[in-house]
Amino acid sequence: MQDHLINYLKQQVGPEHVLTSPEERWTYAYDATDRAAMPDAVVFPGSAAEVAAIVRLANAHRFPVVPRGAGTGRSGGSVPIEGGVVVVLTRLNRILEISKNDLVAVVEPGVILGKLKAAVEAEGLYYPPDPASAEFCTIGGNVAECAGGAVAVQYGVTRDYVLGLEVVLPTGELIEAGTRTMKGVVGYDLTRLFLGSEGTLGIITRITLRLVSKPPARQTLAAGFDTMEAAAATVSLILRSGLTPTALEFMDHVTLGCVQEMLPFALPAGTAALLLIAVDGQPQDVADRVGRIAQCCRDQGASPVLESKTPEEAEGLWRARKVVSPALLKVKPHKVSEDVVVPLGSIPALISALQDIARGRGLIIPSYGHAGDGNIHVNILYDQQVERERQAVPLAVEDLFTMVRKLNGTLSGEHGIGLTKAPYLGMELSPAALALQRRLKAAFDPLNIMNPGKIFPGPPPP
Ligand code: LAC
Ligand code: ZN
Repeated sequence: MQDHLINYLKQQVGPEHVLTSPEERWTYAYDATDRAAMPDAVVFPGSAAEVAAIVRLANAHRFPVVPRGAGTGRSGGSVPIEGGVVVVLTRLNRILEISKNDLVAVVEPGVILGKLKAAVEAEGLYYPPDPASAEFCTIGGNVAECAGGAVAVQYGVTRDYVLGLEVVLPTGELIEAGTRTMKGVVGYDLTRLFLGSEGTLGIITRITLRLVSKPPARQTLAAGFDTMEAAAATVSLILRSGLTPTALEFMDHVTLGCVQEMLPFALPAGTAALLLIAVDGQPQDVADRVGRIAQCCRDQGASPVLESKTPEEAEGLWRARKVVSPALLKVKPHKVSEDVVVPLGSIPALISALQDIARGRGLIIPSYGHAGDGNIHVNILYDQQVERERQAVPLAVEDLFTMVRKLNGTLSGEHGIGLTKAPYLGMELSPAALALQRRLKAAFDPLNIMNPGKIFPGPPPP
């Protein structure tokens, strides 16, 4: 990048907020995938006006702009694949308002989700979305990727809590989308369009969130099963029981092997799957529903079935669940993590297909995740040094996506398309739908400077 452009950036945001040495730039080259690409500069703006100034410069000189929060993304969304400037939003980290009257919070994108959740809970309110990275991801990244997490079964995902946004468009204009109200149908729903747009349509600089009241009680239940089939059947029964779990997660035996020392109890040998279930509500009602869900698990042959006695015990279980993804690297040094979703009735079919794919391709493919909403994390493990494994991985990914589409599922429930799934977009979107999405992108970003190379397979048509 030319010196005069770097100097202009330094003038706009202050020289201490522009990184240019190779070591510093490399620090912002990657996310939570194994993809990386070197940016030309890394800039930390301190206001929406500074963000807009960076974007206007990018328009004038046609360099890519790649927004980034904490870099916890799982599809390469913030990897600057075409170089350019990485715009890190972590200085925009103020919680501007938590309104008990309006049940909203107004925040900047760089607020760490865990801090936001704690601040909201200190007011007796609750912001539900709880992705596994909650303690270190940013709310801006959550909005850009439409983060999900375990409590989506009851509460929904990030999309369901964003009322309004302030966004710097790829052309450098600052707009507001949405409302501070619970309803709103004025014009097209641009807010939802930005949700999950993976930094390709603009840079979010302020977010208005809907809050709910804090549930007075939560209890967690763990149930071990001898077979995956029994666990999957129990998931279906619980979902149809009217006992409305808040979270309904599962881990298979490979997954359990990686986190067993973090579990507050020892599991019998031969445990093929563990269900982890949370229930929110009034204390008496929670105790009643947990009891009935526990009975349902026992009726299906689960053993042990353990109800958390204290919040700390429950916390320990969820901590183990949240580290599963990195813990799987104990088995093999590399992995491809998918986040497919199938309709609820097809979970058993997907689970059994995974076993066939693993056998057919000679790979270890553990699965775990959000069974309660059909969002299954399929992890294809391999060793880069072993040629046979390396070559089998893309074939297993194709097998998986083919099966998911056959079951009327979707390729990504919460991690986004980014770089890693872009080649497969056509397996889900028809040519006409894909062309419309490309026209939308071009309408927002005519020069294709905002996070180029993401979502779409290949460059835009001329
Ligand atoms: C999880 C992340 C990987 O659920 O989405 O653990
Ligand atoms: Zn997940």
